[in-house]
Amino acid sequence: MITIDNVNAARQCLSRAQRVAVLTGAGVSAESGIPTFRDALTGLWARFDPMKLASEDGFRADPPLVWRWYAWRRELVAKALPNAAHYALASAQLRFAAFDVITQNVDGLHALAGSASIELHGSIVRTTCLARCGFVENDPQLLPPGEPPRCPQCGDWLRPGVVWFGEMLEVAMLQHAERIASECDVMLVVGTSGLVYPAAALPALAMRHGAKVVVVNPSESELDQSATVIVRGTAAMEVPRLFE
Ligand code: APR
Repeated sequence: MITIDNVNAARQCLSRAQRVAVLTGAGVSAESGIPTFRDALTGLWARFDPMKLASEDGFRADPPLVWRWYAWRRELVAKALPNAAHYALASAQLRFAAFDVITQNVDGLHALAGSASIELHGSIVRTTCLARCGFVENDPQLLPPGEPPRCPQCGDWLRPGVVWFGEMLEVAMLQHAERIASECDVMLVVGTSGLVYPAAALPALAMRHGAKVVVVNPSESELDQSATVIVRGTAAMEVPRLFE
């Protein structure tokens, strides 16, 4: 049975858990001022075409356009600070035998708040080489000049170190996330629409292995069907209450 709007039921699940896995999406950073992707009016994909801006084909068609779009997003992220949800998750990690944060976000805000998160979709501050020659730069200030810059190792285009549509997630990282999901007692799912796989499969995987799934989201999501408890509210409001 699913319980909706029940912070106490969610707290009860967490109080009995030893191993907690957290899956976050863009909604956890919304109150830090970073737009989500699919919210109807404010989401990035309501305003921009993901196939032009977040796929290898799109990049190859117009590298400067895509480079400038990511530079704009990097600036948004650089100005953003973690919110109460990021901080509550970072301090909760001390209270459980295992507490793993798996994020689809590329903004690095979990790390800034103090959680060593698994960044399934990469990082927006990282730059890699389109030809996958092995070049990686973690400081955008140190990139070669140009728009977009060329790889100092092989001369191909440099690209944002994020996972684009049509690309595989890093296998070892995904396997690590799947192991965490299958071993946790509770999976807390915060601020994701649950439309992008394989991340969206993690709550059902956790549930199949006996975990309770707590969803925090102000709106309905695809993951409601995998939930034991649904808390209808925003991340910064509700996540701290779960760990009070
Ligand atoms: N607190 C919690 N949840 C929120 C908030 C908030 N303040 N504001 C919005 N949300 C919820 C929305 O209701 C929605 O369910 O966050 C979710 C955001 O969904 P998406 O925009 O689809 O983001 P996400 O699920 O992270 O997207 C997955 O899609 O384009 C890709 O690579 C990108 O990692 C991203 C992936």
